Amino acid sequence: MVLPRDFADAAERAEALAGRTSIGVGGRPRWLFEPSSEAACAQIVRLCRAHGVPLRVLGGGCNLLVGDGEIESAVIATRRLRAFDVQESQVTVGAGFGFPALVRRAIELGLPGLPGCPGIPGSVGGVVFMNAGGRFGTVSDALVGVRGVDGEGRVFVRDVEPGELGYRSSPFGGCVVTAAVFRRDPAWTPERGAALYRKAMDWKRGSQPLSARSAGCMFKNPSDGRSAGRLIEEARLKGLQVGGAMVSTQHANFIVNTGAATAADVHALVEQVRARVREVHGVDLELEVQVWDG
Ligand code: EPU
Repeated sequence: MVLPRDFADAAERAEALAGRTSIGVGGRPRWLFEPSSEAACAQIVRLCRAHGVPLRVLGGGCNLLVGDGEIESAVIATRRLRAFDVQESQVTVGAGFGFPALVRRAIELGLPGLPGCPGIPGSVGGVVFMNAGGRFGTVSDALVGVRGVDGEGRVFVRDVEPGELGYRSSPFGGCVVTAAVFRRDPAWTPERGAALYRKAMDWKRGSQPLSARSAGCMFKNPSDGRSAGRLIEEARLKGLQVGGAMVSTQHANFIVNTGAATAADVHALVEQVRARVREVHGVDLELEVQVWDG
């Protein structure tokens, strides 16, 4: 198969994703594309489709576990999509914009719920895809629209209805989210936003290993409302280690990279945790992080 020149450039650019993921593990993809416009994104999707090359989307790499070997697909990184357009009633933000920076701006801009999301790392595209959030606010509190490129390379713009995004899920699988539109609520004063931000940040610092290398919570909470972290702690697994991967001693649903973890270490630890939680609680934990293998 003869691939166009764009692929040769993308092959040259490809580097191990360990350097681009928050947990710091992961091999090299065969091709790495970094478009700086939505039109370029669409073109890459069409090119990959035309040549039968599978494509994956890399946002901030914060909820992602990439395998150690070569990734047999192309990766499209969104970090150069950094639009930031403030209108009277809404704000449009590029997928590559950092979510922590948006959360800080949300205090002044009156984006409801978002000031309650400090300490959530990643890119705007990634948090929309995962519907990230927590007890003080979630992305979907303010999200009203998404721009993106579908699996066939067509640009789309679509509204998001309140309540449409589920727990850690969205309908954007198979698409590249290129930008998100958030509503401004005139009733949200900066004082209210700042107070929520401080409260959420204090709570988060006290309960989660924010400075360690991790992929955030590893498992979804079971549908009965129990906390996966609590179940893992009750199974006495805090501090359990495989190679360089360890169950956090602060919040048991975090697996941290103590220095030289590999994806294989993380996977082996995940399986040990799952098996023990099944044995002790009779609960099958489902992964929250996205897994790229091969
Ligand atoms: N708990 C323990 N031990 C632990 C962790 C938690 O006993 O090791 C207990 C806590 O004391 C608390 C209960 O379990 O009584 C719930 O814990 P927490 O409030 O930390 O919430 P969580 O259900 O463990 C969820 C999200 C987090 C989010 C927090 C805060 C999931 C899988 N996790 O955690 O999201 O930050 O709520 O709102 O939904 C993420 O998705 O990556 C993430 C970090």
